[in-house]
Formats: sequence, structure tokens, C-alpha cells
Amino acid sequence: MNQVIEVMGQHRSIRKFKEKPVEEKLVRTILEAAQCASTSNFIQACTIIRVNDPDKRAQIAELAGPQPWVAQCPLFLVFCADLKRSDQACGMCGLEMVKGYTEQFIIATVDAALVAQNTMLAAESLGLGGVYIGGIRNDPQKVCDLLEIPDLVYPVFGMCLGYPDDDPERKPRLPLEIVLKEDRYADPSDDNGLSVYDQTCCEYYGQRGSANRDDNWTQQIGRMMCKEMRPHMKAFLEKKGFEMK
Ligand SMILES: Cc1cc2nc3c(=O)[nH]c(=O)nc-3n(C[C@H](O)[C@H](O)[C@H](O)COP(=O)(O)O)c2cc1C
Repeated sequence: MNQVIEVMGQHRSIRKFKEKPVEEKLVRTILEAAQCASTSNFIQACTIIRVNDPDKRAQIAELAGPQPWVAQCPLFLVFCADLKRSDQACGMCGLEMVKGYTEQFIIATVDAALVAQNTMLAAESLGLGGVYIGGIRNDPQKVCDLLEIPDLVYPVFGMCLGYPDDDPERKPRLPLEIVLKEDRYADPSDDNGLSVYDQTCCEYYGQRGSANRDDNWTQQIGRMMCKEMRPHMKAFLEKKGFEMK
């Protein structure tokens, strides 16, 4: 097709990296490409914190799981949703930003996610690999303390990047027929389609080289979505200035 689409189709999360550092020039190239992402109303509500300090890395690796790859990867980034800069911009114009709207939370979170996915794609296009680390939200306040993240900014997720020292299989995605609807949200409960996909995932989990297991997609989602999910997030976000009004 073309190289961009080829790279996108090759994505798989990488959690084991060669010790080789990522060249500074490459880091800049990746992050400047990432910044080209679309941004809601040109707000550019994303700040990236690169964590170099081994002690901070170790603490984040621990609270995130533990997830040792956070400490081991050559490049670890934390993507923050940032409304502080907008507040600053308003102040510079002698205006007061209205705060606490759910819409602002969505704008900033989406902006961070778009920059992050551009980062992942740019990195992959240059032969690097990586993995998102939502695990930092296990203890977002500690991440804020470690990285001195102020109010009106919150860490959405981290990302490990580096040269892959692993070659995992690609995880099959839902068939497009299930994900894509035409003109309306038709047939929301297509059990048959999901059963077929379960079979595909079952084969993937059974055949993959490492950590193979007897599992499928609905079981996996069932295990996850039937328990509490980081219930501290609401109070944490409110405290950081992201009320939901
Ligand atoms: C926002 C987000 C947070 C994630 N957090 C973690 C994480 O904390 N640890 C981890 O090992 N993988 C994490 N992942 C990776 C997913 O598990 C992975 O993308 C998914 O299982 C699909 O696999 P693939 O990326 O290999 O295709 C995260 C992915 C996203 C998008």
C-alpha cells in the first residue's frame, strides 16, 4: 500500500528493549512529528515529560505494576493533559479562564492521546518500538509529586520507547465489520461476530510464542470490566482542577 500504512499494520507493544540509547536527534524528530497532530481549537493541551532520573523511573515502574520495562527502556515519556498553558495564555491577555468543564477535560485528554499516538507511530516508523503505560494512573498523585506536575495538568499515561529486543506476534483486532457502522449505530449486539472474533483471539493466545494461554476476547474484557477501575481517579482529577461540570 504505502510505508505509513505498512508501519501502522505492524504495530505491537514492545516491553523488552536493547540497551542502545535513542539518539537525541531522533528523539527530537519523533516529538516534533508527534506535535503535528491535530489539536482541538489549536489549544495544544499536551505536555510531555521525559523521565531520565533512574530513581524516579524506578518509583514509577513500581507504582505502575510493577512494570520493569518502565525502568529499563531507554526513553520514558509521560503524556500530560495540560490546561495550565491555556490559563497562562488567558492571564497574558488580562482574561480569566473559566475552569472545571468536562469539555475541557475531554479536549486536553484527547490532545494528549493524539500526540502520544503520533509519537508511537513516528517511533515505529524509525525502527523503534514501545508500549503505553496506563499503569501510572495506579497512583497519579505520586506521579505528580515525583514529576512536580502542577494543578490544571494531569498525567494521562506513560510510554516506553526504545529499540526492540523482542518480536511478539501482532494482536488481531476486531473485524472492521463489527467496528464500522454505516449511517447509524446498527445491530449493537452482534453476538455471532464477537464469537467468531473470540475464536481468532483464542487461536492467537494459544499459538503465540510467549505467555500463551487459553483465553479469548470476551473473557478478557469480562474479567476486566466487571471490577472497579481506579476509583480514585475522580477525586484525583477534581483536586487537580479537572472538575466535571
Ligand atoms: C492508554 C493505554 C494504556 C496502556 N497501558 C499499558 C500498561 O500499563 N502496561 C502494558 O504493558 N501495556 C499497556 N497498554 C498496551 C495494551 O495492553 C496493548 O496496546 C493492547 O493489549 C493491544 O496490544 P498491541 O499494542 O500489542 O497491539 C496500554 C495501551 C493503551 C492504549
